Amino acid sequence: MCGIVGYVGDKDAVPILLGGLKRLEYRGYDSAGVAVHQGERIEVRRSVGKLMKLEQALLGKELHGHIGIGHTRWATHGKPSEQNAHPHRSEGCVLVHNGIIENYVPLRQQLERDGYKFESETDTEVVAHLINKFVKKGMRLGEAVRAATKEIRGSYAIAVISEREPDTIVAARSGCPLVVGKSEGAAFVASDVMAMLDHTRDVLYLEEGDVAEVGPSGIMLTDCEGRAVSRQTMKVTWDAAAAEKSGFPHFMLKEIYEQPQTILDTMRGRYSFEEGEADLPDIGLTNEQFAAVGRIWIVACGTSWHAGLVGKYLLEEMVRTPVQVDIASEFRYRNPLVEKNDLFITISQSGETADTLAAAREAKQKGARVVSIVNVVGSTLARESDGILYTHCGPEIGVASTKAFTGQLTALYMLALHLGRVRGVLSKADGKAWLERLVTLPTLVKRILAREAEVVAIAKRFYKKRNFLYLGRGINYPIALEGALKLKEISYIHAEGYAAGEMKHGPIALIDRDMPVVVLAPRDRLYEKTVSNLMEVKARRAPVIALVAEGERELGMTADAVFTVPDTHPLLSPILFAIPLQLLAYHVAILRGADVDQPRNLAKSVTVE
Ligand code: F6R
Repeated sequence: MCGIVGYVGDKDAVPILLGGLKRLEYRGYDSAGVAVHQGERIEVRRSVGKLMKLEQALLGKELHGHIGIGHTRWATHGKPSEQNAHPHRSEGCVLVHNGIIENYVPLRQQLERDGYKFESETDTEVVAHLINKFVKKGMRLGEAVRAATKEIRGSYAIAVISEREPDTIVAARSGCPLVVGKSEGAAFVASDVMAMLDHTRDVLYLEEGDVAEVGPSGIMLTDCEGRAVSRQTMKVTWDAAAAEKSGFPHFMLKEIYEQPQTILDTMRGRYSFEEGEADLPDIGLTNEQFAAVGRIWIVACGTSWHAGLVGKYLLEEMVRTPVQVDIASEFRYRNPLVEKNDLFITISQSGETADTLAAAREAKQKGARVVSIVNVVGSTLARESDGILYTHCGPEIGVASTKAFTGQLTALYMLALHLGRVRGVLSKADGKAWLERLVTLPTLVKRILAREAEVVAIAKRFYKKRNFLYLGRGINYPIALEGALKLKEISYIHAEGYAAGEMKHGPIALIDRDMPVVVLAPRDRLYEKTVSNLMEVKARRAPVIALVAEGERELGMTADAVFTVPDTHPLLSPILFAIPLQLLAYHVAILRGADVDQPRNLAKSVTVE
């Protein structure tokens, strides 16, 4: 949600902190700030709004030092304001924080009784005062942070500096991601590895309860009790330039266009044509364990949940095993009936979504095997799962998920193939036929992208409407949900996704000439039924935007606007139908002047409940 960055080394800290914050800005953006050790004092600068505002505030003002921390905030406690922006100070201790401190009210009352004055409405400020209180008792900063973490409840990733120890950043995490990086004579702290990629690729991910004392000459890691722990250093292979826009006006559009490649990358090296099998070395379960799986669960949030819904249709068809799909925030609070031999699949782009993580932990505790489909390498979910299937999509910066979604679908196809083969539902010949279709997907996606102009024309006709309905059936029902979500989150138009057959049970009452209806009609066994749903819509004078398989004439003649999608096997059609819907949402939002990469109220990864 919010972003943390820290630097200690021999260079000027401010440009490094600002560069890191720029890369993190997509995580949260109502205010930003930096704190730098300058001479004897730590100087703090904060401002409300985008990072540019902070840069302007720093312009011409001398702020130099070799150690500092920075933050971009997305408000949870307290409105966006300069006082509530991070870093927060308690005398000589200055801190940035991601997460939520659940017991901040009693802590605040106690600290006020101790004489501490609060300047903000945030939960974070209690942590600054608490650490300062221990520092004043004579503890080293690292010890003080450990002592403070014992008193706070909730989730946090923090980075703290102190005027008493001008060479050290102390970082600690519980429930929120935090990475430490090192290079020659310098060290970095960040909530996302992206923030340090311009300077180092050697990173280590802190585990729950870890406290890191980070200085130019080394990193000391302990658990919250002060016992030394060691974490493996990883080499990040992402190219920092991959995170730039590469000439596209927005990250979202760039990411939409990357999909032929990311779909290919997610399959690459993971199948054998000869065997008609998927080869998933990190999947964490033996063939025997897969064969013994009782029930399959898929749990995720938002767009990743939509991918999970597609996964249900896919797995039930290809593996012939019941699949239960849940929204993570619902699953975790209902004492679900997960059993020992169940396969529990979680799906997450970031691998840091709090609800999805909590669901995975709950399932693990109940004895299920957790396999996660994740994009961010080394993320918490990836590290805590028994098996992992990475979507090799590279960093996704646009807040609206696009390439991660089609990557997740591709990973689900690979998993369904593997499970289908292991459980004897698919023969070798079936597997080969399946793979032959799968490898054509990137080319088919390219063909759709080449026709972006047709989507622009449709967007121009309808972008002023206030409501949209999206209808799909079967495996494309979740794509109707996803199309509606994309539109609402970036264009702020109210949009609903519905199972087409459900329309007559209620939503048909909404339909009139001002409600464009997007109908997804692949050539499958439900095609005729979808056509009759469309007729019901037309009879109520709603403008219809039909997405149909190439060569399909009937719907084409009835609808007000038509986009044809290359024909493929019905089970593979969701990827192809998702692409024009992503483009439609993008162009409608652009025509309405919306900020597509950073839509209001949204953050890229939701690391709090
Ligand atoms: C929508 C979107 C969100 C995420 C959801 C889960 O475009 O991006 O709905 O899909 O917040 O995030 P991850 O996949 O990181 O767990």
